[in-house]
Amino acid sequence: MLRIVVLLSGRGSNLAALIEGVHARADVDAEIVGVVSNRPRATGLQRASAAGITAACIDQRACADRDGFEQALVAAITALEPDLLLLAGFMRILSADFVGRFSPRMLNVHPSLLPDLPGLDTHARALARGDREAGASIHVVIPELDSGPVLAQVRVPIEAGDDAASLAARVLIGEHLLYPEVTRWVAEGRLQLDAAHPRLDGRALPASGFRYRIEGDALQPCDS
Ligand code: GRF
Repeated sequence: MLRIVVLLSGRGSNLAALIEGVHARADVDAEIVGVVSNRPRATGLQRASAAGITAACIDQRACADRDGFEQALVAAITALEPDLLLLAGFMRILSADFVGRFSPRMLNVHPSLLPDLPGLDTHARALARGDREAGASIHVVIPELDSGPVLAQVRVPIEAGDDAASLAARVLIGEHLLYPEVTRWVAEGRLQLDAAHPRLDGRALPASGFRYRIEGDALQPCDS
């Protein structure tokens, strides 16, 4: 069984999608064994507890410095003996030392079509540029921010009249489908994680990972 730990800082809607699409599914050999937040008020902690999942907070403000925070975080995570670490709205940049402990078995969901638009405020930046399309990416975490190999992307249209909130909501629907999908690939032993050359079913991934769009309430593969 794949033991998953989720790190988050806020709302936890991706956690909810992972609970429903991975943890609670009898046909997926994986379990979220813990959720750790760096913020005590993160709603994601309540979602975890409500699902019977161990929830812990390492409050960054209660730690003397970044090293102290990360040491406490590493201790909380390793106590849960994870096979896979999933960042789901974890709003804190992690040091190369931290990443080195868990990479390549650490994934992140980022709300843009990486390598385009790393960093914050992706939706506002896409709109300001006049983009016609947006999306989200699941990638392997490496020390450089939002830069590890992309495993899969979901693309959504930008519609006339969109603002950052409406676009974020549309992208989020894709995140909620895509993150559980990629996690199931790991649980099924189909995805071989690697910080440079991950493989699915023994084959190299396309440069931007597998690409999907949303049709109805499901992902559909798309070519370009
Ligand atoms: C998501 O948009 C994710 O892409 C980004 O942070 C947000 C987290 O949302 N990294 P939630 O806490 O999962 O609802």
